[in-house]
Amino acid sequence: MRADPEAPVTAPDLRLPVPGEHVLRTYTRFREAGPMVPVELPGGVNAWAATTYAAIREVLSGDSKVFGKNSSHWADLQDGKVPPDWPILQLILGEHMLMRDGAEHRRLRGLLSKAFTRARVEALRPRIEEIVDGLLDRVAAEGAGGEAVVDLVPLFSDQVPTAVICEMFGVDGPRRSELREWTQKLFSQVTTPEEAQVAGGQLFAYLGELVEEKRREPGDDLTSALVRAQQDEDRLSPQELVDSLFLLLIAGHETTVNLLGHAIVNLLAHPDQLARAKAGDLWDAVAEETLRFNAPIAAALFRYPLAPVEVAGVQIPQGDPIMVCLGGAATDPEQYGPTAGAFDISREQIGHLAFGYGAHTCLGAPLARLEAYIALSRLFARFPGIEAAVPLDDIAYSPSFLSYGPLSIPVRV
Ligand code: HEM
Repeated sequence: MRADPEAPVTAPDLRLPVPGEHVLRTYTRFREAGPMVPVELPGGVNAWAATTYAAIREVLSGDSKVFGKNSSHWADLQDGKVPPDWPILQLILGEHMLMRDGAEHRRLRGLLSKAFTRARVEALRPRIEEIVDGLLDRVAAEGAGGEAVVDLVPLFSDQVPTAVICEMFGVDGPRRSELREWTQKLFSQVTTPEEAQVAGGQLFAYLGELVEEKRREPGDDLTSALVRAQQDEDRLSPQELVDSLFLLLIAGHETTVNLLGHAIVNLLAHPDQLARAKAGDLWDAVAEETLRFNAPIAAALFRYPLAPVEVAGVQIPQGDPIMVCLGGAATDPEQYGPTAGAFDISREQIGHLAFGYGAHTCLGAPLARLEAYIALSRLFARFPGIEAAVPLDDIAYSPSFLSYGPLSIPVRV
C-alpha cells in the first residue's frame, strides 16, 4: 500500500527530542523525502505525513466528507494501537468542534465564534495590557536592573495566555494557577500517565464546577454566555459545554506560549530586525513571520480519509491517518523561495498555515495575534537593553506532539 515500500520513513517520536537535531531540521528532512511521506506513528499506526505547503493546503481545504475529523474515526487508534500515555487523545476524543465535521462542526463553532470576533477580542485589549504590564513588573523586580538572570518562559510567555483565557472564562485569581498546573501536568512530557490522568480528572471536575457556578451567578464572561446558549436554545449539551471550555483552554495555551517564545528568541537573534520592529511598530509582522518560520503546532493536525484519495499525486488508502506537518511547510522553498529558511520580518508574501486552513481554521487567531502584539511591543519597550544570558544555540526546545517551542529563555533585562 505504500508509495515506496523500499524507503519507509519513521516519524520521530513526537513526544521526545530527536537527539542532536533541531526540530525544524527534522521536518525539513521529512519534506525532502516527498510531499506525502509514509510514516509509522508510535504504537505502530501506519500514517502519512503531508510535508509540503501545497500538499498541506490540499489536505486542509479538502472536503470533510473525504478528509474527516470526527473522533469516532479514531476509535481504532485507541484499540491498543496507540500507547495509552498519549495525552493528545484527551483532546482528540472530546465532544467539541475540533473533532466534528460538517453540520455538527458548524453548530459548535457557530456558538463559540461569537466570542472571538475581531470586535470582541479588541475589547479585551486594555485588560491584556494590564496583565502584560503586571507580569513585566515581576520580570523587572526579579531581573534587578540586569544584575540577575531571569527566565522569560515561566515568568512571562507561559503566563500571558492562561491569564487571558481565565479572564475570558471568568475564572478568579486563586484558581488560575491551579488550572495552569493541571493543564501542564496533563500535557507535560515528564509526568507519568497516572499523574496526567489525575490532573485531567481535576481539570474536568473544575470546569464542571465553573459551569455550575456561572449557571447560579452569571457574569459578563464566556462561560456564562455558553451556559445561556445552552439554556436558551438547547443547542449545546452539558458534555459539549465542558469539552468546549477544555478545547479553548488547551488550544490557546501552549500554542501562544510558543509563538511568544519563538518571537522573543528570533528577535534576540536578529537585533537589526528588532530595531526595525521598534522603529516602525512592526510587531504584527514579527508575529506573522514567526508563525511562518516556527509554526507552534509543528505536526499535530490530523485528517482521516473516509475514502481512498490522491494527495500531491500520491494514493492514500482509506483509513490511514494523515499527519499535517506544518513544520515542513515552514521552510518550503516552493512557497517561500530560496530564503525560506531565514527569519525575515520584511518578507512580503507570508500566507502561512500556522493557524490551519479551511473549515477548521483557528478560531482564536485574532486573540493570539493581539496577545502577541501587546506582549512583544511592551516587553521590548520596557527593557531596551534586554539580552540573552546564554548563547541562543544552547536554548532547549520541546518538540512535543502538540507543540514546539523554547523551554526556557534566560535573559538579562
Ligand atoms: C484550531 C493553531 C491560538 C482556539 C486551530 C488550528 C490550528 C491552530 C493550526 C487548526 C486545527 C485543525 O485544522 O485540525 C493555533 C496557533 C495559535 C492558536 C498557532 C497561537 C499562536 C488559539 C487561541 C484559541 C484557539 C488563543 C482560543 C482561545 C482554537 C479552536 C480551534 C483552533 C477553538 C478549533 C477550530 C475548529 O475546529 O473549527 N488552532 N491556535 N487557538 N484553535 Fe487555535
